[in-house]
Amino acid sequence: MKKLVLTGAAGRLGTILRGPLSKMCDALVSSDIVDGIAELLPNETYLRADLSDRAAMMDLLKGADMVVHFGAIGDEASFDDILRSNIVGAYNVWEAAHQNGLSRVVYASSIHAVGMHPKTESIGVDAPHRPDTYYGLAKCFAEDLGRMFWDKRGLEAVCLRILSCAPVGNARALGSWLSDGDLVHLVERAIDTPVTGFSVIYGVSANDRCPVDNSGAAFLGYRPRDNAEQFADRILAESGPHDPTDPGQMCHGGPFASIELGQGAKSLLNIPDED
Ligand SMILES: NC(=O)c1ccc[n+]([C@@H]2O[C@H](COP(=O)([O-])OP(=O)(O)OC[C@H]3O[C@@H](n4cnc5c(N)ncnc54)[C@H](O)[C@@H]3O)[C@@H](O)[C@H]2O)c1
Repeated sequence: MKKLVLTGAAGRLGTILRGPLSKMCDALVSSDIVDGIAELLPNETYLRADLSDRAAMMDLLKGADMVVHFGAIGDEASFDDILRSNIVGAYNVWEAAHQNGLSRVVYASSIHAVGMHPKTESIGVDAPHRPDTYYGLAKCFAEDLGRMFWDKRGLEAVCLRILSCAPVGNARALGSWLSDGDLVHLVERAIDTPVTGFSVIYGVSANDRCPVDNSGAAFLGYRPRDNAEQFADRILAESGPHDPTDPGQMCHGGPFASIELGQGAKSLLNIPDED
């Protein structure tokens, strides 16, 4: 691949992906809204661009083969903020990808697109949208956008419904954890699988307590290796009492399922600092 574009490059997951992605292409163009990123790799350039600026997205994707679209507000926020960065931003990326003749968008979707499904039901990649927040609603929009651009314009999309890619800090994460290594493997498969059409896959490690079913996306060859069970004794010993009436504990979306719309939920996830 000649040119690969990564949005959200300054973010937590973008930072994990820059190195591995740079090995898959001649030129990696990393982009974000921040002024710059530290220590560019030898074949990497940085372009500051706001996702909500369509002309900037057109420039960013010029001559690219694929885009790995991870830029977004990564938490629940006001509808207006989500509209600008996550909904209009997604439209601009797909439209620019189409107009520049890219073959595929690899998209960071989220479990929050289906977050109100109860966890007592294992959901597959064909589960109907059931968002838990404006944030999740924007992920539904982008997935539908990806399907429509595939159906109408032949632009492929792989939507990675990531559960939680962060150090394991709570009981929910024993099922929802996606390790950094498995994230990289997932994105590599989303890029190097020859034909994907429009597809959806959950971004989750091989956890004993995994609450979702990826068998409908087996063709992508994603075979996670890590398992959060190694943290279970410590996490369960530290966990508070279980409340089966709390949607935050009963639904796939976790705390996002119980917060008020428009209010951030990430602080409730008890994610420990990485050391
Ligand atoms: N971390 C997780 O567990 C998780 C789970 C599900 C989905 N995701 C998705 O993965 C992606 C990356 O997540 P993350 O944890 O790295 O989040 P993050 O907040 O660390 O990174 C997101 C990046 O997007 C950039 N951004 C926000 N608005 C922008 C705009 N208008 N224009 C340009 N750039 C903008 C931010 O500056 C930031 O660097 C996001 O799309 C998020 O929704 C993450």
